Amino acid sequence: MSEKATLGINGKTYEFPIVKGTEDELGIDISSLRNSTGGIITLDPGFKNTGSCESAITFLDGEKGILHYRGYSIEELAEKAEFLEVAYLLIFGELPNKEQLDKFHDDIKHQSVVDEDVKKILDAFPKSAHPMGVLSSLTSALTAFNPSSVDVRSEEAMYKSIVKILGKFPVLVSWTLRKKMGQPLNYGSTSLGYVENVLQMMFSQPNEEYVLNPIVVEALDKLLILHADHEQNCSTSTVRIAGSSHAGLFVSLASGISALWGPLHGGANQAVIEMLEAIQKDGGDTKKYMAKAKDKEDPFRLMGFGHRVYKNFDPRAKIIKKAADAILNDLGIEDPILDIAKGLEKEALEDSYFVDRKLYPNVDFYSGVIYRALGIPTDMFTVMFALGRLPGWIAQWREMRLNKEPIGRPRQIYIGKTLRPFIPVEER
Ligand code: CMC
Repeated sequence: MSEKATLGINGKTYEFPIVKGTEDELGIDISSLRNSTGGIITLDPGFKNTGSCESAITFLDGEKGILHYRGYSIEELAEKAEFLEVAYLLIFGELPNKEQLDKFHDDIKHQSVVDEDVKKILDAFPKSAHPMGVLSSLTSALTAFNPSSVDVRSEEAMYKSIVKILGKFPVLVSWTLRKKMGQPLNYGSTSLGYVENVLQMMFSQPNEEYVLNPIVVEALDKLLILHADHEQNCSTSTVRIAGSSHAGLFVSLASGISALWGPLHGGANQAVIEMLEAIQKDGGDTKKYMAKAKDKEDPFRLMGFGHRVYKNFDPRAKIIKKAADAILNDLGIEDPILDIAKGLEKEALEDSYFVDRKLYPNVDFYSGVIYRALGIPTDMFTVMFALGRLPGWIAQWREMRLNKEPIGRPRQIYIGKTLRPFIPVEER
């Protein structure tokens, strides 16, 4: 394989180096294209062919259905690791030893109190507000209460901001839920593990002791690990690009939360359950919905199916499907929606429309079934995704800052009107 790519434009030839990743991925480095060609750019809507950075965090092979965090397989991490270990791994590059993990957890716990005035902001939202909008606003508002988190030049300053947000974000997540449910805002306990504390903060009632269910803890831990990073997806790219202007960490994350909200991205987990419920109400006629998904005149899509990068099984979906069966079984829940999901999957995998387009279930197809079984309201599902994705966003933001990446600023091909004279309003 040549180490250079050759491009011919109007009889002239240009050469560009080919970069190779550690997993043998190849990319043409066109960073000199515009200068060497006198202004020619590439056009790639949706960035389907464009790498925005070199990254050492997450590797995925969409053709083979492989996902690794820092060189560890997602299957092994989901089975053997805890969420906080995975967070440390993603952010700092190596699995922590016991001492490092304890210190990380202690530092996070000591930053887990949120300014009381944040409650006033939360109070101003209607109960009907979508939790993702609330979470994004509160995360952004945290900057005002922690101004030192904006100007992060040293690794030490970055670390402080990172443990602050890892401490305060679960509080915001739980308060978002409690506001929605009309329940008092509370704190968990520093004596609990990270995920246990999230559950306690979300679900404890003011008048009774909250008893943690180890099945629920393990299920949530696994889901958070599976969502923790996914290289340069829509929300992560948003975090990196917002942060590339040297906006602070918290507001960069708030931008990512907004991007995640959309139903084509993280919002799909809510959309999947709403779709499955609609199918159930409609008498369970999966064929009708399959036909709708294939009809190009109908905007309906089979939510939880398809992926920009995976053209094979999403490895996360495989793990979640297995976990959904086990968790519902362990909790003694029979959910007809799981059967509808399995039926849809089977039909889609045998249907030429889906087969030809390589559309497989993605991470969001079965995750909602588990969130439902854990008692989490449907419009909180994407918030749970955000909680899981937080360490990935942080890791990507940190990498971008440490690599001193330039401000993200794509180009365009202008297709609007050419220069024309201004016409006064009375003559238009
Ligand atoms: N149902 C029906 N048709 C689909 C679907 C679907 N879910 N997904 C893609 N297609 C069709 C699409 O219409 C197109 O057909 P054609 O070639 O005839 O025009 C073809 O498949 C390629 O689709 P695309 O929209 O060009 O692919 P993309 O890479 O731009 O979009 C996607 C990827 C995930 C946005 C899309 O598959 C989709 O909308 N899926 C449903 C939403 C969803 O589940 N999102 C969660 C993604 S995983 C969680 C995360 O965001 O990380």
